[in-house]
Amino acid sequence: MNAIVAKNLTKRYGEFTAVDGISFEVKRGEIFAFLGPNGAGKTTTVRMLTGLTPIDEGEAYVNGHNVKTEKRKVKASIGVVQEVSNLYDELTVEENLRFMAELYGAPVENVKGLIEEFQLPAKKKFGKLSGGFKRRTVIAAALVHDPPVLFLDEPTKALDVRSARQVREMIGILNKRGKTVFLTTHIMAEAEKLPHRIAIINRGRIVAVGKRSELRKLIGGKVRVRIMVEPLSTKFLHFLDPYNPHFDGEYLVIDVDDVDSFLEEFAGLKTSLGFRVLHISTELPSIEDVFLELTSEGSSEKPSLCGGCPL
Ligand SMILES: Nc1ncnc2c1ncn2[C@@H]1O[C@H](COP(=O)(O)OP(=O)(O)O)[C@@H](O)[C@H]1O
Ligand SMILES: [Mg+2]
Repeated sequence: MNAIVAKNLTKRYGEFTAVDGISFEVKRGEIFAFLGPNGAGKTTTVRMLTGLTPIDEGEAYVNGHNVKTEKRKVKASIGVVQEVSNLYDELTVEENLRFMAELYGAPVENVKGLIEEFQLPAKKKFGKLSGGFKRRTVIAAALVHDPPVLFLDEPTKALDVRSARQVREMIGILNKRGKTVFLTTHIMAEAEKLPHRIAIINRGRIVAVGKRSELRKLIGGKVRVRIMVEPLSTKFLHFLDPYNPHFDGEYLVIDVDDVDSFLEEFAGLKTSLGFRVLHISTELPSIEDVFLELTSEGSSEKPSLCGGCPL
C-alpha cells in the first residue's frame, strides 16, 4: 500500500497558483524527496498533505486516510517537522518531549527511547542547544507517538555540514526502522544521498519523478569523462574531437553516450600512441545537472520529460 497519494493537488493564493495540480505516490518504507528551489511550492504541499492548510482542488490520502475528511486519523498517523521549531526554549529536551507525548497521549517510555537512541542531551534547555541538536530534538518530538509516516520540511536547512550529516543519518536510521519519510529540500547534493525517489518541483509543478538513475536517464544518461594524458598530442586531440571536448582548467572533459566503447578505443590509442594516463575518471550526470536541464526556460512544457508522472 502507498503511504501517501496525491491526486491533482492544487493550492491558490488569490490569483496565484502556488501548487498546480500535482500527482504522486509515496510507497511505504520509502524516503521520498521533494526537490525544488525556494518558492517552488514544497512547504505548501507539506502543509496540504498534513492538514495544516486546506486543499483547494484535488485529493490526498495519507496512510489510507483522506486528508480532507479524516483529518484526525491523518494527524494521529504522521509526525510533522516544519521549518520553524514548535518547542519551548525554557523547557529541557526531556520536558519538551514529555509535553509532546502528553499532547498525543503517547506513552512516556517513548520519550526515554528517543533520547537514548538519538543521544539527545535530556537535561539541557532547548533554547541553549546548537542548531544541529535543536533540529534532532524537533525531529524526535515529532516521533513521540511513533507514527509510521514522517514529514520533514527542509530538515537540514541552515545547519553546518556536520550537523546536516547527523540529521541525514538520523533520517536514515528512522527509515531503516520502517518509517516512511517525505522530506523537502532545495539542496541538490542532499538529493544525491538520502532519498529512494525524488520529485523535482518547479513553480508549483512536478517536472519529473523517479529514482536517481531514472532521472539521470531523462537527460540522456551521458557519462562525463575527465582525462589528463602526457604528452598531449595532436593525434589524441583529433580522437577526442567528435566528443566536443573542453578544458576545465585541469582536465579535458567530454560527455559520452557509450562509455564502454569509448574506454576500449582510448585503451587502443594508448597502446598505439604510447602516452601516459595521468588521470581518467567517469561521472554520471548529477541531480543538479538533471534539475537544471529539466527546469531550464521552455523545458517545463515538454510532456515527454515526465510522461505520465509519477514514473
Ligand atoms: N500564505 C501565503 N500567501 C500568499 N502566497 C504564499 C503563501 N504561502 C506561500 N506563498 C507563495 O507560494 C509559493 C510557494 O511557496 P512555498 O510552498 O513556501 O515554497 P517552497 O517551500 O518551495 O519554498 C511562493 O511563491 C510563496 O510566495
Ligand atoms: Mg519551504
